[in-house]
Formats: sequence, structure tokens, C-alpha cells
Amino acid sequence: MEKRNVPAHIGIIMDGNGRWAKQRNLPRSEGHKAGAQVFRRICDYADEIGIKNITFYAFSTENWRRPPEEVSALMDLFRDYLKEAQERQDENEEKGMHISFIGHREGMPEDIIELFDTTEKESRSANRINVNIAVNYGGRLEITDACRIIAQKVKNGEINPEDITEDDISANIYTAGQPDPDLIIRPSGEYRLSNFMIWQSAYSEFWFSDILWPDFTEKDLDRAIDDYNKRTRRFGGV
Ligand code: IPE
Ligand code: IPE
Ligand code: MG
Repeated sequence: MEKRNVPAHIGIIMDGNGRWAKQRNLPRSEGHKAGAQVFRRICDYADEIGIKNITFYAFSTENWRRPPEEVSALMDLFRDYLKEAQERQDENEEKGMHISFIGHREGMPEDIIELFDTTEKESRSANRINVNIAVNYGGRLEITDACRIIAQKVKNGEINPEDITEDDISANIYTAGQPDPDLIIRPSGEYRLSNFMIWQSAYSEFWFSDILWPDFTEKDLDRAIDDYNKRTRRFGGV
């Protein structure tokens, strides 16, 4: 393979599970199951090729609008993954996988919040790859949450409103301390962000494809990175 720049941070919108299932006359939950397997594979592959930060969009603040059976099937899949992560704690540590859950904790089932906390705690010392899983995540809510934190600091007299900078916002969003995503991948033929990383994506490169997430392979990730390497990023300069 040609020498290429691996993006410091990749964001992936895991979309198309429902349509994948429909194509096969399966219930939507089967599409989510297949998608969860692809998530595991792509996660391992990202680590293998030296990506340091990767964010997977798994459940948005808007996804609560889905039928209760589908929401509960998705919650069950999160539980399965989290329990498996605990069982495989040694393996994850060996892989150096630092797992974080980004999103609004409130509103999630209590047992899942607990599993989020233990999984994060147990992987805290791992530092080869940061894997963010966005659950009950919304970019607008993330910015709103940051505003609340900063407003509280203003109220406490710790900062003046005129001194608030973009860096203060960046320091108070869920991905604080991580680089902004260089590349955002959205399969499934949709050309939108659907409230994903709207603050962080100001200068991200986008890669869209008609592939449905459960059909997404390591080769597709390679293809996206190769295309990314052909882009010229100017950040407003010349
Ligand atoms: C993505 O697949 C999974 C979630 C949003 C949780 P979808 O369920 O949105 O699949 P489509 O878009 O209906 O095909
Ligand atoms: C975006 O997909 C959210 C996730 C992949 C978790 P959606 O399927 O919810 O997005 P829309 O509704 O098509 O914009
Ligand atoms: Mg969708």
C-alpha cells in the first residue's frame, strides 16, 4: 500500500441497518445485530491501521422517536456489547482500547449507565486507540451542555462573558482533549450529519457511500482513507 496519512480522528455514522434488514425480509433488529458485528470488526481494524481516535454514532437524541420495540432491541444490543467488553477486559487492555461513551447520560436506562461507567473506568489506562461510542448523542445537546457548564462558571464569577473563547467551548464538549475529526464517513446513501459532531466537523472532510452499514468492510474504510489522502485541506487559507 502507498504511504498514506492516517486521519488522527475518524467519525462514522453507522447508518443503513434497517434497509439492510428490509432487503432480506428480516426484522429491523436483525439489521442492528449485523451492524453491531461490523462495528466490532471496524473497531479492531482501525486499531490495526494506527488510527488514534474513532467515534461511532450508535444512537442519536432523535432516535427515541422510533417504535419502542426497536429502541428496546437497540438497548439490548448495547447491553450485550457492554457485558462482552467486561468479560473481555483483559483482551481490550491488551489491545490498548480506551472506550468512552459520549452523549447525554440522563434518559438512558440505569443499568446501561452503570455499564458505561465501569467500561470506561476499566479501560481508562489503555492509550493506543480512543474509541468513542456516541449513544443518546446529539450535537446540539452537546453544545447546549457545554453552554450550561460555562454559564455556571460565569455565575460563579470564574469567567467573564467577554472572555469566553472557542477553545472554552471545545474544552467543555464531550470530546474535550481529542482532535476534531479529520474525516467523517456516512454510508447508506444519505448526505447529512443528522446532528453528529456539528461543532467538531467545522473543517472535517466527508466521505459518503451507498453501502449499507452492515455491508461495510475494512476495504471500504481503506477506500475512504485513500480518498481523504487526495483532498486538499485549506482551513480557509490558500
Ligand atoms: C442506523 O441504522 C442505526 C441507528 C440509527 C440506531 P438505521 O436503523 O437508521 O437504518 P435505516 O436508515 O433505517 O436503513
Ligand atoms: C443517524 O442515523 C444516527 C445514527 C446512525 C445513530 P438516522 O437514521 O437516525 O438519521 P436520519 O433520521 O436518517 O437523518
Ligand atoms: Mg437511518
